Formats: sequence, C-alpha cells, structure tokens
Amino acid sequence: MRQLIAGNWKMNGSYGALAAYAGDLKAGLARLGAVDLLVCPPDPLVRPLIEALGGAGGSVAGDDVKVAVGAQDCGEKRAGAHTGDVSADLLAELGARFVILGHSERRLDHHETNAMVRAKAEAAAGAGLIPIICVGESRAERAQDEAVTVVRAQLAGSLPDGFAGVVAYEPIWAIGTGTVPSLEQIMQIHEAIRAALVKQLGDAGATMHILYGGSVKPDNAQAILALPEVGGALVGGASLKAEDFLAIAAAATGG
Ligand code: 13P
Repeated sequence: MRQLIAGNWKMNGSYGALAAYAGDLKAGLARLGAVDLLVCPPDPLVRPLIEALGGAGGSVAGDDVKVAVGAQDCGEKRAGAHTGDVSADLLAELGARFVILGHSERRLDHHETNAMVRAKAEAAAGAGLIPIICVGESRAERAQDEAVTVVRAQLAGSLPDGFAGVVAYEPIWAIGTGTVPSLEQIMQIHEAIRAALVKQLGDAGATMHILYGGSVKPDNAQAILALPEVGGALVGGASLKAEDFLAIAAAATGG
C-alpha cells in the first residue's frame, strides 16, 4: 500500500513563511519514491499553500509523489448560522482534499464527542473531502490497559456507516512529548484497529489507511512506517520544517 505522510501544522505557520516552505518542499520531492504527501495548515493558508505549491491535488514530481492540501477540522453542518465554523464545502471549494477530524486536541480543548466527530465526517464526505479520523488513548487509559477498549469505542462512535476515509492512531501521551510507544505497542494497536475496521466496515475496512501519529521524527519514522498495518504517519511538529517532513516521507519509501 502506498503510504500517506500527513503534516498537521496545528495553530502554526504564517502567510509570510509559506513561499519558502513550499519552495523547500517542492525542491525535495524529486528524491522521494512513491508516496502521498498531505499538508494541513490552518484554514486561511489552505488556498495560498495550494497556489504556492502550484499543483497540489495532482502530480507534482512526475507520477511518484502526490502532494495534497487539507484542513484540520470542519463544521458539523453544511452551512448556516454557526459563527466561527468553517464548512467542509468551503474547504473543498478552496481545494482541500482531506480534513483531519476528532484530533485529541479538539476532543479535549473543544469537548468534541464521538457523535460530533461522526457528524463532521458525514459533512466532510458530503462535500467530497476525505476524512482522517483520529483516535487514541490517554496516558492513564494506557496505564490501566484500556487502550484497545478506548480506541474501539472511538471507532464505533466516530465513524459513520459506510465510512470511506483514513484512520489515525494518535496516543495522547505521545503527542508533542518526544515519547513514542514501543514498536510492539504500535503494532498491537494497529492490528486491533484493523480488526475493528473490518468488523465495522467489511471489505472497505481491510484496505483503509491507518496512520500512526505522535512524535514521529526523521530518526524514528523508518522503523514505525515499516510495521505491518501502519499505512503512513500523521506528523505534527516535524511537519513544520520542510526538510524534516521530507526526511519522514523518504523513510516511508525505505530511504
Ligand atoms: P507531534 O508529531 O508534534 O507529536 O504531533 C502529532 C499530532 O498530533 C499530529 O496530529
């Protein structure tokens, strides 16, 4: 399976720095093997980034590397009186191809429930965006041996019927901490997620990408991405520097 390396800029990045980032990223694409890249900046930068890349959503460096731009959230409703929300339809119109949903920072900081994430995923799919639904346990839940139970419940509650998209496993205790689960732990939970997806979605669940996220860096990416059932990475901090993001993408293709 072709790996998907997705960058989540969170509330970082600036309009002024966009051209330099896009230039650095484009310059590095030619040395990558077959891999899909996705960059998810804050909403106001979605369109400018697409323009700076000059071809996002399509093939940028021959047929090997594809670069898409996505968003980090969308509204639950398609349109209407929802001050401050941004609709999936508008993001799609701007050229976004994917949208990250149910990130733990939104579940915690904005009290997003599984039902809300599910509604957002339905809105996103309706608008033609590919949802990336995030799941993952807290440190306390991991300590109590509840990681698989928690993640299964998140999948059951957050994925709409007939979900077609991507799932990202992001243990909360690994996000922005520099602490990464052992390869064994990642492998076990990705296998559990795969089994849950097959149970929930049938054949579609068997081939769906499952990304790992949480302190992925150039020096640990290769070992993580080589694990069975890891279909790519969702990268926070290390996606902010084009050079590091490219190094992770290179690791996805073995070098
Ligand atoms: P870090 O890579 O900074 O740990 O963030 C991971 C993440 O939350 C991506 O969505």
